[in-house]
Amino acid sequence: MKQTASFSCTSCGAAHRKWAGRCDACGAWNSIVEEAPLSTGPKALGARGRSIALTDLATEEAPPARASSGIDELDRVLGGGLVPASAILVGGDPGIGKSTLLLQAAASFARTGLKCLYVSGEEAAAQVRMRALRLGLSDAPVSLGAETNLRDILTTLDAERPALAIIDSIQTMWLDSVESAPGSVSQVRAAAHELVTFAKRRGVAVVLVGHVTKDGQIAGPRVVEHMVDTVLYFEGERGHQFRILRAVKNRFGPADEIGVFEMTGAGLSQVTNPSALFLSNRDQPAPGSAVFAGIEGTRPVLTEIQALVAPSPLGTPRRTVVGLDSGRLSTILAVLEARCGIPFTGLDVFLNVAGGLRVSEPAADLAVAGALISAREDVAIPPDMVLFGEISLSGALRPVGQTENRLKEASKLGFSTATVPSHSKMDGAAGIEVRQSPDLTAFVGEMFGAG
Ligand code: TYD
Ligand code: MG
Repeated sequence: MKQTASFSCTSCGAAHRKWAGRCDACGAWNSIVEEAPLSTGPKALGARGRSIALTDLATEEAPPARASSGIDELDRVLGGGLVPASAILVGGDPGIGKSTLLLQAAASFARTGLKCLYVSGEEAAAQVRMRALRLGLSDAPVSLGAETNLRDILTTLDAERPALAIIDSIQTMWLDSVESAPGSVSQVRAAAHELVTFAKRRGVAVVLVGHVTKDGQIAGPRVVEHMVDTVLYFEGERGHQFRILRAVKNRFGPADEIGVFEMTGAGLSQVTNPSALFLSNRDQPAPGSAVFAGIEGTRPVLTEIQALVAPSPLGTPRRTVVGLDSGRLSTILAVLEARCGIPFTGLDVFLNVAGGLRVSEPAADLAVAGALISAREDVAIPPDMVLFGEISLSGALRPVGQTENRLKEASKLGFSTATVPSHSKMDGAAGIEVRQSPDLTAFVGEMFGAG
């Protein structure tokens, strides 16, 4: 049979007969590339498989003991440590610090007495050793390999049987049985499949490092995300030293948990109190600043929302947002105009979450509105106040979850007042004065004396 070429989408992994500018399956543009066809021999057709073993749902086995990775913030994001025989994908922009984090994790894991193998396909062994020296990890009993041939790596893993294997990165790995180039969709898919299967069969925890493309997807297909048990993203702004490790999928723990790190000259250090870090230098009352008491994963995190409003020289004023959803900003601006009579026409609006954190909770609405009005009116919100609450299109304030956790964290960090939606669920939080507002108009009247 003549082998015909096939095409697949680098974004969603969908297979196509012919090349097209846009993928019908996911709508991505310019994502379709030519792939070597999957080998389908005569055996694949009509051959009968054997019956698989079936069991019931009941089990006497205890849940697998988790092993600490040696880094508390990483364990937290994993849901309490590494699960044996699990596959974890760590994605992030090139240069964000994935290799640094995983080398540090490898070293602390190996120091707990368990066997750890680190395979680098991007750097030579000497380069990794240099990095280890710089990080003060040279004495850690990590087995280091520099290789990209997956067949050789699997043979080595099989012989060594480590408790943890780190593959940095999945895009550099190649299988000689697959015809396309390393980094192509079929290679990444096949390599990830081999490694995940190995993890399950041999009870080894496998971490795959994956580079993310500009639009936030792991280069190569997203099918890797479906194959693994846990997907973590390592993110942060290049100019900032803070790095956030975020679980976006976790079969063994809560998703959306975050771990916070700081990139220093000697590698990544853990930040155990992120609120204090995101709120640094806030003693002077400043117009345009509001403190949001948010929840990231299972933990309350306080962040400063900053707004700047200035007359615009442009026909269409600018709306620039960092760390928040720009659609959400438009909605809040529209509600302020329609329900409170505070227009932003002819004004440029810049909105920013300090410290490089991304906030996705609707609970941030009230703090965003507070920062915007404060900037527009040039009146500072008291520096010892936190805000949270969701704004509905009618201008009403809706209570949000975990009110007490948010208040407790604010009180712990020295905030003395909180403005929250009416009917928020709480039984008298200690040490903090709570003001309840039914809607945005009431909030504006109370806070800025106008409406
Ligand atoms: P790296 O871990 O190589 O990124 P990735 O594997 O995600 O591509 O991180 C590289 C960056 O981190 C590089 O720009 C330098 C910086 N860095 C530090 O600031 N301090 C350190 O101790 C190390 C090892 C790296
Ligand atoms: Mg790297």
